Amino acid sequence: MSLQADNNARVVDQKVTLEMQGSLAVIRIDNPPVNAGSIAVRAGLIDALEKVANSRATGAIMIGEGRSFIAGSDLKEFGLPLTSPQLPDVIRAVELSPFPVVAALHGVALGGGLELALGCDYRLATPATRVGLPEVSLGMVPGAGGTQRLPRLVGLSRAIAMICGSQRITAQEALSAGLVDKVVQGDLLEAAIAFLSDAAHPKRLTIELPVPDENREAVESAEQTAGKRGRFRHNVLEAIRLVKASATQPAANALDDERATFQSLRVSPDAFALRYLFFAERKAGVIEGVDKSLALPVSSVAIIGGGTMGQGIAKALLAAGLDVQLVERDSDARDVAVQSVTSSYQGLVRKGRLKNSEASQRLERLRGEVGLDGLGSCDLVIEAVFEDMGVKKQLLKELEAVVSDKTILATNTSYLDINEMVADLRQPASVIGLHFFSPADLMKLLEVVRTASTSDTTLATGVALARRLGKQAVVSEVAEGFIGNRIYAAYRGRAELLVLDGAMPDQVDSAARDFGFAMGPFEVSDMSGLDIAWAMRKRKAASRDPAARYVTIPDRLCEMGRLGRKTGKGWYDYSEGTQTPDPLVNALIEEIRADNRIVAQSYDAETIQRQLMAAIVNEAACLLDEGVAQRASDVDVTLANGYGFPRFRGGPLYWGSLEESSRLEQDLKALEAAVGHAYRAGPVEQVLGAMKTEAGS
Ligand code: COA
Repeated sequence: MSLQADNNARVVDQKVTLEMQGSLAVIRIDNPPVNAGSIAVRAGLIDALEKVANSRATGAIMIGEGRSFIAGSDLKEFGLPLTSPQLPDVIRAVELSPFPVVAALHGVALGGGLELALGCDYRLATPATRVGLPEVSLGMVPGAGGTQRLPRLVGLSRAIAMICGSQRITAQEALSAGLVDKVVQGDLLEAAIAFLSDAAHPKRLTIELPVPDENREAVESAEQTAGKRGRFRHNVLEAIRLVKASATQPAANALDDERATFQSLRVSPDAFALRYLFFAERKAGVIEGVDKSLALPVSSVAIIGGGTMGQGIAKALLAAGLDVQLVERDSDARDVAVQSVTSSYQGLVRKGRLKNSEASQRLERLRGEVGLDGLGSCDLVIEAVFEDMGVKKQLLKELEAVVSDKTILATNTSYLDINEMVADLRQPASVIGLHFFSPADLMKLLEVVRTASTSDTTLATGVALARRLGKQAVVSEVAEGFIGNRIYAAYRGRAELLVLDGAMPDQVDSAARDFGFAMGPFEVSDMSGLDIAWAMRKRKAASRDPAARYVTIPDRLCEMGRLGRKTGKGWYDYSEGTQTPDPLVNALIEEIRADNRIVAQSYDAETIQRQLMAAIVNEAACLLDEGVAQRASDVDVTLANGYGFPRFRGGPLYWGSLEESSRLEQDLKALEAAVGHAYRAGPVEQVLGAMKTEAGS
């Protein structure tokens, strides 16, 4: 189709449209929902640029339809051979255009979207725009010039931090850094037209700009921080190497190097696992058979209980712009709770992590209250009181009497049976479980628990709230420990048996860390405190199967007052300020082994890792069999977002689906032998088989 350079001539491609506004070409990207840069988009852009080049245009504007400029290259294409034209071809076409091209950014410009914008001569952005190169968090490096053009605009150390940390920065930050040329209020397209009509904006290739000189120490420090944060994964180190090459290598060579590195990393095991997790996380927010538009609006929330958990939940809600009442039983407790939230914001302001104005705005939306009388107008009430069935049951009853018919009631419990908790209520359909993880303002995961009576509207509201809070929702049915804690209990149980049978705690922890867990199971216990699990074991002592193997070591540690970090001692000794294995604990372990007539076996790190994984995979299969989780990938999302499971492994079931079946079978047999009488085999083969089939389809 030919283009006449007169007003409003319009060429329509499938995903890209072109229109002339005077002598300026407006190229629109239209690939809902997020304008992912697919092959159709790339081909459309090349086509449009060719048409403009053959016209009398004096400039071009690239702009996105809908919510965003471009949310990145289409991740669905990344596991397959990439079809041409590829993104570097599009950017080359932009650079070869005889006129300046402006990228007009709104919503997000991420990954390939930002790389395309960096290939343009200028970048304008609306105030709400966010930009970033998240490829490293997906196991890759930017592959279309991001590592070469970004440092030319923002400097080496900033580029290393942004790329390796997969940072998404605001338009204002991008302006200060030199990444965008102007933040525009009002109509973006009009502003871009005005910008290009100004003769002061001639053609200017980013790739031809010099990399700004920078102090060597600053670059080395950025490099070290990025390497450490990225746990020195191969792709992180490659990203650092490539950014630094921008200052030392001819641009053409460095771009080729970047592309070759990207091409090999995009099909690496890490990248496959992280892409799987990306789509799994989005799927986890979908409730099978429930229309998400049923969600009720939530703007005011009351939290009953201003302890650590209640305060954390309050901070999560305040950060999302909600009005919060923090309710305590007396004025002293109320004042302590409100003061504690206030101090925490003051601390963030002092450290430069929160603007003073933002802290003030949040505190204006926080009210401390005593008693339940003022809750009539709340959209949602979350109880975060002591983990006790009687206390929670009574509280929910009292709440039901004071809130409006439309109010949703949520219980923040980690273990209790919510079906039992709501049994005596008039409106159990309005009750949901919201299992926050501590610290609730920082942890990403939120288990949204559906009871036997929860209505679709209540459930949809819970999931929508998680999204509003920027949290990862996973829907669980009522079950002991829901999804996450139940699997974690099986994992910790296996770790304790390994210690009883011959491994030492630091050996198990180090094997878990080497596998990629953020911390080992005993380090986690010491950090969260051994007394919580102890209290639960005592509660359940009467119903415990006497024939099941039971590891008494943690009980003995608690009896010795070793409750973890908070008492300076637990599985480890912290009295010198560092975590040190304690000969006393080793002696206790040996004593208990002798009491149980156990001859210590020796375990290598791989056996420990495979046994821990077998315990997780088996428990996950059991709970999927019971219908506790909606789908296998939800288990992976839960473990990766709430339990320090290494993201680059995709999740435990994804990991299992890649393992050789016969080897996994052996692991499961060894697990069964170790657990003994209480072992319950889950349908592992069936669950993993279904995942393999899905991955292949
Ligand atoms: N490629 C393919 N699909 C993508 C995508 C991409 N780069 N980015 C988002 N999508 C899809 C999602 O899978 C989802 O599909 P679904 O509706 O079938 O589940 C849909 O777009 C909407 O995404 P979602 O994340 O649910 O919407 P949101 O409004 O919460 O967030 C973004 C939008 C763009 C902020 C978010 O999707 C995002 O951060 N995407 C990642 C972008 C990225 O990493 N790009 C770099 C790639 S190298």
